[in-house]
Amino acid sequence: MESPVSVTYIESTNMSQRKQTVIDILRDSRDFVSGEAMSDVLGISRNAVHKHIKSLRKRGYSITGVSRRGYRLEDEPCRLSMAHVTARTEKTVFGHSFRYHDEIESTNIEAKALATRGAPEGTVVVAESQTAGRGRLGRRWTSPAGKGLLFSVVLRPPLPMSEAHLLTIVAAVAAAEAIEKHVPAQVAIKWPNDLFIGDRKVGGILMEVSGEQDEVDWVVLGMGLNVNTEYSELPVALRRTATSLKMVGGEAVDRSEVLAALLLSLESHYKTASRGGFERALTAFRERDYLLSRTISVETRQGPVVGAAAGIDDRGALLVQLPERRVRSFHSGDVTLHS
Ligand code: BTN
Repeated sequence: MESPVSVTYIESTNMSQRKQTVIDILRDSRDFVSGEAMSDVLGISRNAVHKHIKSLRKRGYSITGVSRRGYRLEDEPCRLSMAHVTARTEKTVFGHSFRYHDEIESTNIEAKALATRGAPEGTVVVAESQTAGRGRLGRRWTSPAGKGLLFSVVLRPPLPMSEAHLLTIVAAVAAAEAIEKHVPAQVAIKWPNDLFIGDRKVGGILMEVSGEQDEVDWVVLGMGLNVNTEYSELPVALRRTATSLKMVGGEAVDRSEVLAALLLSLESHYKTASRGGFERALTAFRERDYLLSRTISVETRQGPVVGAAAGIDDRGALLVQLPERRVRSFHSGDVTLHS
């Protein structure tokens, strides 16, 4: 008998009963409701009502506020359809256990906690929004609620720790192929984990790993992808360097379908790598190498190293051509295009 798919819907602890009620009041009214009326019904101050409204807006609820009239609910965030995702991923490694959060600190943090407590390979943690989304090298990952894809998967690959980082390459290649099914554009990969369309970043991958030297215990692969994010919703500092599938293709994209496609593609590449090694992923990466032949600067503890990007080696390390025919390899580091 097949085991059933488990989808656990987890409401954020912030999404208190009170906020639910604020939403219920606005939904029922379909018109303006004064802050005073809500504060009377809920038995809280008008300031507290305002705070709830502010936090609901942050979660993607569109609420108009007009002085002396109050608040009106205009639109609710469009949620992922887990029914769609589970139907598409049935019978795959990622098809058995989903934890869907309305809001979470970080799907990677949650997936790591689950992995430490023994969650099986293929567990998927997905969220509509994150309060402390994490990027590589201690950076933040921000995404407006309900507009992007934010998820992490737990893997338990039979690999030595020294090879685990190659799964970032596997994930990046899998993501690039899945994204191309939804936008008329090519996706390039900036070593080791950035997904680019043209000269703008559309997504990124954060891999975290735990284990002993000879054997990985778990890997958490977290992916953030800008799907329906509008230009005006990007943080100001990223408006010249980031993009979204909607910005590229000109129309909204079904996030549930993109999530399913990403998981299916990841399963295909992960299976190939587990059975036969990383050749397929490395070859696919090389065909999408954003940095190849460009002059780059790699940040190291001793300062920046400038040279021409010369691809990656079979261990996934970045190769940089230096003067006098010297080639140096980097296993980690921050890379920028040298202007
Ligand atoms: C990067 O580009 O530096 C990597 C970004 C990875 C972001 C994703 S969003 C889902 C998952 N949870 C996190 O906290 N981070 C990853």
